[in-house]
Amino acid sequence: MQFTTALYAVLAALPIVSANGCYGSGDTFAEYGTSDELATAREEACAALVSTIPKHTELMLNLGEPRFNQQSRKLQAGEYPAGQTKNYCASNGQASINFSATSNSGSTTLTLTADDCVSAMIIEMEACSHGSVQSHGSFTYKDDPNAGSC
Ligand SMILES: *[C@@H]1O[C@H](CO)[C@@H](O)[C@H](O)[C@H]1NC(C)=O
Repeated sequence: MQFTTALYAVLAALPIVSANGCYGSGDTFAEYGTSDELATAREEACAALVSTIPKHTELMLNLGEPRFNQQSRKLQAGEYPAGQTKNYCASNGQASINFSATSNSGSTTLTLTADDCVSAMIIEMEACSHGSVQSHGSFTYKDDPNAGSC
């Protein structure tokens, strides 16, 4: 019986744990667009947040000093050096959403997948009408709807 009670307590706590960090005011996702438009924004954002380093940085790696090339290796898709944040801003007319992902690791490089990013953003965007900042696994996600384009 005690196990059952404990299990119910855990299940009841789950939605609160997975979706806290909601902003209490400000612009809303509804002001950005339809649920299809929100899904498109989320998918664009997660594709960008797991993309490799920007092209100008790759150029530096290719043309840079040999010393730099020897000490560094090119980051693979989705890799976040310790503590790194990546941002993406999606626009829909006169509304936008700022997305970001931050590695919670202070020491190791972590890999973010688009699937994990989309799953986390769905939980947050469905639970928090004004956006949120919340950790899921080893990453902290931000999703912040704003008036005005990017
Ligand atoms: C949202 O992102 C845009 C473009 O990167 C940036 O200029 C703006 O300051 C950000 N807004 C907020 C509220 O973070």
